[in-house]
Amino acid sequence: MKKPRMTAVLTAVLCLAGAGVLLTSYAQQNTAVKSAAAKLYRQNCAVCHGLPGEPRNAIANGMFPKPPQLFRGMGVTDDEAWESFAKISGGIRMSGMPGFRESLSDTQMWQLSQLVKSADKLPASVKAELAAATPGAAVPTLAPAAAGKSDEEHEHDHVH
Ligand code: HEC
Repeated sequence: MKKPRMTAVLTAVLCLAGAGVLLTSYAQQNTAVKSAAAKLYRQNCAVCHGLPGEPRNAIANGMFPKPPQLFRGMGVTDDEAWESFAKISGGIRMSGMPGFRESLSDTQMWQLSQLVKSADKLPASVKAELAAATPGAAVPTLAPAAAGKSDEEHEHDHVH
């Protein structure tokens, strides 16, 4: 490649990068917030409110009222973030929705409010983080009933 042309290419790239810098850093910051929130969500909310692409688990299924599955079209994306913040902070009386203000910081609860507000337009990285091999194997799935209590176990129970 000839030198002048290379320079031109480099300049173009730099210009684009420069022009995009604000947008990019905003987006990255935004994504960083959401991925922090994704972790918090997995730890504190997923057990009731579910994860993208996963069916309602046994716990959520047995609640009354049932917690809305926030990543399955039953979200709060049409609510204002402050509204969700208030619910996350104070809980919802007599519903099973816990208040988190004793356990999470305001910042963390804001991050969660923003996460659930944009549940329908999350960057792929954040979705992946939500789906990540959940230490919420802590989140039990609706198990096919009593599959495989093995005979072996049974025999051991009855050794005479
Ligand atoms: C033990 C189960 C449980 C956990 C854990 C839980 N929630 Fe909830 N949540 C509920 C239930 C049940 C409702 C619905 C209450 C109702 O219908 O009145 C609810 C409602 C909500 C709502 C309002 C939904 C709406 O349609 O207005 C938001 C927002 C919410 N939860 C966010 C969260 C976040 C964020 C977390 C984690 C920090 C969390 N919840 C943890 C059970 C839970």
